[in-house]
Amino acid sequence: MVSEATRIDWIGGSCRLLQATAAEFRKTRPFEGLTIGTGIHLEPKTVALLMTLNAGGARLVCTGNLNSTQPTTVDYLRSQGITVFATQTTDPAAHHQSLVAVVAEKPDLLLDNGGDLFAIAAESPYASLLGGTEETTSGRTRLLPLRDKLNMPILVINDSPIKQFAENKHAVGQSLFESYMRFTNRSTNGKRVTVFGYGACGKGTAACFRNAFSQVSVVDIDPVTTLEAHLDGFVTPLRDDAIRSADVLVTVTGHPDIITLKDLPLIKNGAILMNGGHFPNEIDVAAFRAHEDVVATDRYPADGIETLHMKDGRAIHILGGGHMANLAGPRPLGNSVESMDLGFTLQVRCLERVAKRGVGPEACIVPVPADIDAMVASAYLDLAR
Ligand SMILES: NC(=O)c1ccc[n+]([C@@H]2O[C@H](COP(=O)([O-])OP(=O)(O)OC[C@H]3O[C@@H](n4cnc5c(N)ncnc54)[C@H](O)[C@@H]3O)[C@@H](O)[C@H]2O)c1
Repeated sequence: MVSEATRIDWIGGSCRLLQATAAEFRKTRPFEGLTIGTGIHLEPKTVALLMTLNAGGARLVCTGNLNSTQPTTVDYLRSQGITVFATQTTDPAAHHQSLVAVVAEKPDLLLDNGGDLFAIAAESPYASLLGGTEETTSGRTRLLPLRDKLNMPILVINDSPIKQFAENKHAVGQSLFESYMRFTNRSTNGKRVTVFGYGACGKGTAACFRNAFSQVSVVDIDPVTTLEAHLDGFVTPLRDDAIRSADVLVTVTGHPDIITLKDLPLIKNGAILMNGGHFPNEIDVAAFRAHEDVVATDRYPADGIETLHMKDGRAIHILGGGHMANLAGPRPLGNSVESMDLGFTLQVRCLERVAKRGVGPEACIVPVPADIDAMVASAYLDLAR
């Protein structure tokens, strides 16, 4: 028998840890009688997360994040009886309304991504809120000043070492490398690639291009980190020299204005610029586009490539308009399923801990408990053996 399956089915079948956890939850039902409000990208990988919480007995009220909601995912979740307050929108006001709608349901637990839901709950508190999880560092930074108001367990997933190395290092590295090839269909062999930022994401990116036979140099503002890159065998030229020599320039710093107009004269003819950092402000694409020396622009909308032709004859290519390249351009896949399977298993185990009152208000905006990290790591290794 041949059956047609969807991407949601493929991703669900690839999330082996979540599948195993869901099988356990069908017996243990840690969320029986509880409502979980979620505000995280509504795309196929999230379905695996939400269906695991559902298997644990949770009633779910969900919304997504700005500009990333996939209608087929919403349709699927609704077909499974899950309440979704979300549409694909770039309008912050419309998105905010969907966040308010989730909190208005007075969920017992919140799964937050960027601090949106907890910030609303801090303004309109209700007694039944037990606590929950926050996915990101930016959410942690936003919620820390609200700690006294919140005064409940909130476990921060990004502060787990597993998230740091599984997603930021390995998965971002692989997916930025994959994105370069997906956008351009060009080889990496012998190309001079400069990676700006040698944090977790930069380390993975530099390693992936090196493993694909590129000559990789690293530029980091921190001399200690630059020394680490040097000892890891990367070339660490002075910044301007690194720009002058690069065929491919990748920014992954988390900071604005990494490659700006003053660098334009240095950039080599034919260079490709791409960003992997969260915000589209690491490469000043708008200023490049508007520069008086740009005499013509070729846009390849289907491929997410833009070529700026300069008065002096150089051509400079920009991928994905300077947005996170692994979530832009043709068929963006984001980070690998396995890295998300690990991160989302940390999510469900942390929510289980809060649901069981295994942590109190002293755990307000703290990293994932070490025993949960150990449990998730062991489970992944067991499946891999
Ligand atoms: N694309 C994705 O899927 C994805 C996934 C996770 C994280 N991110 C984003 O990637 C970015 C980097 O994350 P990270 O975890 O590696 O951060 P990190 O803080 O570990 O590393 C950033 C590095 O950039 C360096 N840096 C800062 N300013 C610089 C400058 N002007 N020039 C050169 N180097 C500079 C810092 O010294 C640091 O070593 C963040 O914006 C993060 O949100 C993207």
